[in-house]
Amino acid sequence: MGFDSKFAKNIICIGAGYVGGPTMAAIAAKCPQYKVTVVDINAARIAAWNSDHLPIYEPGLLDVVKQARGRNLFFSTDVAKAIKEAEIIFVSVNTPTKTFGEGAGKAADLQYWEKTARDIVKASEFDKIIVEKSTLPVRTAKAMERILNANDKGIHFEVVSNPEFLAEGTAMADLEKPDRVLIGSQLTEAGLKACESIVEIYANWVPRDRILTTNVWSAELSKLVANAFLAQRISSINSISALCERTEANVYEVARAIGKDSRIGSRFLNASIGFGGSCFKKDILNLVYIAESYGLHEVARYWESVVLMNEYQKRRFVQTMIRVMFNTIAGKRIALFGFAFKADTGDTRESPAIDVTKQLAEERAIVVITDPQAMENARKDLESCISQVEFASDPYAAARGAHAITVMTEWAEYKSLDYRRIYEEMEKPAFIFDGRNILDHEALHKIGFNVFPLGTAAWKHF
Ligand code: NAD
Ligand code: UGA
Repeated sequence: MGFDSKFAKNIICIGAGYVGGPTMAAIAAKCPQYKVTVVDINAARIAAWNSDHLPIYEPGLLDVVKQARGRNLFFSTDVAKAIKEAEIIFVSVNTPTKTFGEGAGKAADLQYWEKTARDIVKASEFDKIIVEKSTLPVRTAKAMERILNANDKGIHFEVVSNPEFLAEGTAMADLEKPDRVLIGSQLTEAGLKACESIVEIYANWVPRDRILTTNVWSAELSKLVANAFLAQRISSINSISALCERTEANVYEVARAIGKDSRIGSRFLNASIGFGGSCFKKDILNLVYIAESYGLHEVARYWESVVLMNEYQKRRFVQTMIRVMFNTIAGKRIALFGFAFKADTGDTRESPAIDVTKQLAEERAIVVITDPQAMENARKDLESCISQVEFASDPYAAARGAHAITVMTEWAEYKSLDYRRIYEEMEKPAFIFDGRNILDHEALHKIGFNVFPLGTAAWKHF
């Protein structure tokens, strides 16, 4: 039924962001027989996708894009034309936390999703499969189906859920070898047929036993639950990091000891300044809101505590800084090593560095930000306290004249800096707060630093 008969399937994706761009580039690279078009209303983003300066930093992405762009991968702002010609429409628009009205602060804001559904109805001329790629509250497919199928053109839209599990920084490897691909559909004949059509796409490179098919509600809910479980592990180990600091236990040793239990597993147990990223907090709060809306208040409180522990960890980190720096940081220079919410990305959404900088600025410190990829985003995030903030792309320059360094992002390059040189150029006593536990604390202490890791005893000279 596709317009371009040269291709076996005509696939489009609405939303050319951190998910839409990489996932569609991966599909196009793996499946040259399909035409894949990614559309967005943001013209600057689309122009960047069509250039060598992609709008997001993701290791390996440019190579994959270059492999398929212009062959069977296209980026465009003509949303209506793309919808008209597509047989399969992935929707990967943003679904942030609602900031207004009913459910503000917790529920998902579905305005972009609904707008997309209406755009699809308007431009369509034949039946289509609509794939929920965005993370959505359980039972959204029902609402979408209602909007889509309330058309007077006699067109049938089948909605399936195919949530995305990639992590930023490792997106291309995650897409190449996913732990699983999840596809949920209605269990009707049309639903199962649509599901099979999506299975067929992934089966081009993903082993069949890794492609899970479920009912549509399980797929929607599993995405929220996966993020909630991952974030819960971080909050759990972070809560223990506070206890370790009081008891002379060492959080690495505890993590290693418990992680050896195959029922617990060793991954995702790194104590940190707190989890960031666009999704963990928003998806848990969404889960909390859904539980509340079904009257499951105990369930809601249980998951909410994961977010509360994360806020506590950030606050606790800054409180330690102030306490050990003689209860005042007013006028002191503090160099922030890293601003992205994790290494290997320029993304700063919900980065703990934002809250930490704002708290430090409130204490009237001068915060000097350095990051290999996130400086542009950092500038936008810090508009409200910009008079207290400086930027230095070179970490040595950032640390020069500073009273303290705080490691906010686990960029590999921060491990191999010449800390002797850095120490010599800093104010004394010089402090390092390692919010990621990536540095050699003993070696830094020998140089002369007072070192405050997370979840282990401090290395002090006083
Ligand atoms: P993003 O903000 O980077 O991208 C969304 C894009 O959608 C934007 O470029 C925006 O301009 C576009 N858009 C919004 N409304 C539109 C419309 N009506 N027509 C055309 N384009 C429109 O968001 P993202 O990080 O890619 O996340 C997208 C979804 O995927 C979210 O639901 C998120 O929860 C989920 N998710 C994200 C990640 C991640 O690592 N970022 C991972 C898994 C799932
Ligand atoms: C996360 C999930 O890992 C993905 O599966 C999911 O698709 C995605 O959210 C999403 O839905 O958006 P992402 O946020 O990109 O991916 O990155 P993660 O590697 O999960 O890290 C999230 C945060 O947790 C980062 O701030 C990271 O530094 C922190 N973290 C992670 C820790 O503090 N400790 C750990 O042990 C692991």
